[in-house]
Amino acid sequence: MMHKFAVFGNPIHHSLSPDIQNQFAKQTGFEISYDKILTPVDEFVSSVKAFINQGANGFNITVPFKLDAFKFANELTLNAKIAGSVNTIKIEANKIIGENSDGIGLIKDLTHNIGIKLKSKVILILGAGGATQGILFPILKQNPNQVIISNRTHSKAIRLAKNFSKFGNTCSISLNKIKHESIDIIINATSASLDGRMPNIAFNVANNTVCYDLMYGYQTPFMSWAKTNRAKMISDGLGMLVEQAAIAFEFWTGAKPDTKKVLSNLRR
Ligand code: ATR
Repeated sequence: MMHKFAVFGNPIHHSLSPDIQNQFAKQTGFEISYDKILTPVDEFVSSVKAFINQGANGFNITVPFKLDAFKFANELTLNAKIAGSVNTIKIEANKIIGENSDGIGLIKDLTHNIGIKLKSKVILILGAGGATQGILFPILKQNPNQVIISNRTHSKAIRLAKNFSKFGNTCSISLNKIKHESIDIIINATSASLDGRMPNIAFNVANNTVCYDLMYGYQTPFMSWAKTNRAKMISDGLGMLVEQAAIAFEFWTGAKPDTKKVLSNLRR
C-alpha cells in the first residue's frame, strides 16, 4: 500500500525532508510518496485540507506554519501541547493528530549520535522564541542540573523560564551576564543564524563546553565563534533534522529507521 506524505512550508525549495523520508522508506520496505508543497502564507488550511482529501496519511510542517498546524490539529500529543507548535501531523480516520518531534530529535542527536548525556548538566539555551519553546520540555525530561535561558529580549527569557519551572530547574540570565565556566552545553536556538548573524554574547566559551546550533547547511557564526574559542565539541542541527524526521516516520508507519546511515549519507 502506498503511503502519501508531504512537507508544507514557505520557502520549501531546499528542504531535505523528501530525501530523508525516501531513504527511511527504502530501508524499512514502505512504499511512500513524499512531496514538497510550497504554501502561500495565508493558504495553509486550504492547502492541507486539499492534501488530506487526496488521501494523505500524514505530513510535516515547517516555517512559518508550525503554529497554524498546532491550531489545525484536532488532537495533540503532550509534547506538542507543551511545545505550542506542531511539525508532524498524522491522519487517522477523522483524527488529525499533531506531534512535535523537534525537541525529541535534538535529544536523540545529542545522546545517540554525539554521545553526550544531559543528566546533571548545566545547559545554556540562547533564544526564547518558538524553537526554544519546542525543545525545553524534552530537555528538562533528561534531568539536567539546570537550564539557563538567555535572550536578546530578556523579558521573553524570564517568561519561558517561569512557565517551564514546573518541569525542572530553569532560570534566565541576561546575555551580558553569562558566566561560561559552569556551562556544559550551549544550544543556539535563536534565528540569528538564518541571516548569518549570531547573538551578541560577551563571553568566551570554555574548552570543556559542547556548542550546538539548531541550524544546518553551513558553518554558522555561532559555530565559528565556538571553534575560535576551542569548544570541546561543535555540531550543527543536521542530526536533529534526521532524528526528528525518523520520529515522524515512526509516528506514521510504526517502523524505526536507521538514522545513522542516513546522516552519514547526508554528511558525505
Ligand atoms: P523561532 O521559531 O525560530 O524560534 P522566533 O519565535 O521568531 O523564531 O524566535 C527567534 C529568536 O531568535 C528570538 O529569541 C529572537 O530574539 P528576540 O526575542 O529578542 O527577538 C532571537 N534572535 C533573532 N535574531 C537575533 C539576533 N540577531 N541576535 C540575537 N537573538 C536573535
